[in-house]
Amino acid sequence: MQIFPKWTNNFPGIFLIGAFLLVFSLSAFIWYYGSPYYTDVGYAPKQPVPYSHKLHAGDLGIDCRYCHVGVEQGYSAVIPPTETCMGCHTYVKTDSDKLELVRQSWETGMPIEWVKVHMLPEYAYFNHSVHVNDGVACITCHGNIAEMEVVYQAEPLSMDWCLDCHRSDSPEVRPVSEVTNMYWTPPADYDKFIASWMVNHAEERPVGDCQKCHR
Ligand code: HEC
Ligand code: HEC
Ligand code: HEC
Ligand code: HEC
Ligand code: HEC
Repeated sequence: MQIFPKWTNNFPGIFLIGAFLLVFSLSAFIWYYGSPYYTDVGYAPKQPVPYSHKLHAGDLGIDCRYCHVGVEQGYSAVIPPTETCMGCHTYVKTDSDKLELVRQSWETGMPIEWVKVHMLPEYAYFNHSVHVNDGVACITCHGNIAEMEVVYQAEPLSMDWCLDCHRSDSPEVRPVSEVTNMYWTPPADYDKFIASWMVNHAEERPVGDCQKCHR
C-alpha cells in the first residue's frame, strides 16, 4: 500500500516552481518599489499621538485648510500647533488617554514631535501655494488622506514623477475651489476645462530650467 498518493511524486517540481515564482515576484516588487522612481512610497512612520485623518478630515469633515493653514500662502503646508487641537479637545474627549500627550504639550508649551512623512531632499525646492492655487489637488500628490488612519506616502515625489505632470498635455488639475475635496469627479466637459487651463498655465511648469527646482 502506498502511503503517499502518486501525484506527490511531483512535489519537488511543484516546490521549485513555487520557489521560482516567489523569488520572481519578490525581485519584481523590489525592482518596482525600490527603483529611484518609487522610493519611499508606503512610508508611514508611527506618530506620538494616534491622530486620525480618517476621523477628523473624513468622518468629521474638517477641511484640510483648518489645520494646514499654509497651503494657499507659502511653500510649507504647516503642521498645526497644539492650540488647534485644544480648540476642540478642551471640550471633547477631555479624559481620553489617547490625548494625554496633547494635554501635556498644552500645559508645558512644548510642541508635539510629529514625525515627518513626506520629505524632499534639501537640494529640491517645492512650494505648496503655487500648485494649490493653480488647481493641483492634495489628493493628486498625497492620496486620499481623508481615509487614512495613519498618513503614508502615496506618491513617489521623485524628480521624474514631478516632471511627468509638468510635461503633460492633460495634467491632473481641477477648479481651485475643489483642491481639498477628496471625492471630486471630473464633469462631462472636463476636456474643455483642461484645454483652457493649458492656454493659461502650460508654460509655468518648469521642466528644463533646473534652477527653478534646484536653487
Ligand atoms: C484637525 C487637524 C487636521 C486636519 C483637518 C487635517 N490634518 Fe493633515 N495633519 C494634521 C497633523 C496633526 C499632522 C501630523 C501628524 C500626522 O502625520 O498624522 C498631519 C499630517 C498631514 C500630512 C503629512 C505631513 C508630513 O509629515 O509629510 C499630510 C500630507 C496631510 N496631513 C494632509 C492633509 C489633508 C490632505 C487634509 C484634508 C483632507 C488634512 N491633512 C486634514 C492635522 C490635520
Ligand atoms: C473641530 C474639532 C476637532 C479638532 C480641531 C481636533 N479634534 Fe480630535 N476629535 C474631535 C472629536 C469630535 C473626536 C471624537 C470623536 C468620537 O466621538 O469618537 C476627536 C477624537 C480624537 C482622538 C481620539 C480620542 C479617543 O479617545 O478616541 C484623538 C487622539 C484626537 N482627536 C486628536 C486630535 C489632535 C492631535 C488634534 C490636533 C491636530 C485634534 N484632535 C483636533 C474633534 C476635533
Ligand atoms: C504638487 C504636489 C503637492 C500638492 C498638490 C500638495 N502637496 Fe503637500 N507636499 C508635497 C511635497 C513634495 C511635500 C514635501 C515637501 C518638502 O519636504 O519640502 C509635501 C508636504 C506636505 C505636508 C508636510 C508639511 C510641509 O509643508 O512640508 C503637509 C501637511 C501637506 N503637504 C499637506 C498638503 C495639503 C493639505 C494639500 C492640499 C491643500 C497639499 N499638501 C497639496 C506635495 C504636494
Ligand atoms: C499634478 C501636477 C503637478 C505635479 C505632480 C507637480 N507640479 Fe509643479 N507645477 C504644476 C503646475 C500646474 C505649476 C504652475 C504653477 C503656477 O506657477 O501657477 C507648477 C509649477 C512648479 C514650479 C514653478 C513655480 C515655483 O514654485 O517657482 C516649481 C518649482 C514646481 N512646480 C516644482 C514641483 C516639484 C518639485 C514637484 C514634485 C515634488 C512638482 N512640482 C510636482 C503642477 C504639478
Ligand atoms: C519640477 C522640478 C524639477 C526640475 C525642473 C528639475 N528637478 Fe532635479 N530633482 C527634483 C526633485 C524633487 C528631486 C529629488 C528627488 C528625490 O527625492 O529623490 C530631484 C533630484 C535631482 C538629482 C538627484 C538624483 C536624482 O535623480 O534623484 C539630480 C542630479 C537632478 N535632480 C538634476 C536636475 C537637472 C540637471 C535638471 C535640469 C535639466 C533638473 N534636475 C530639473 C526636481 C526637479
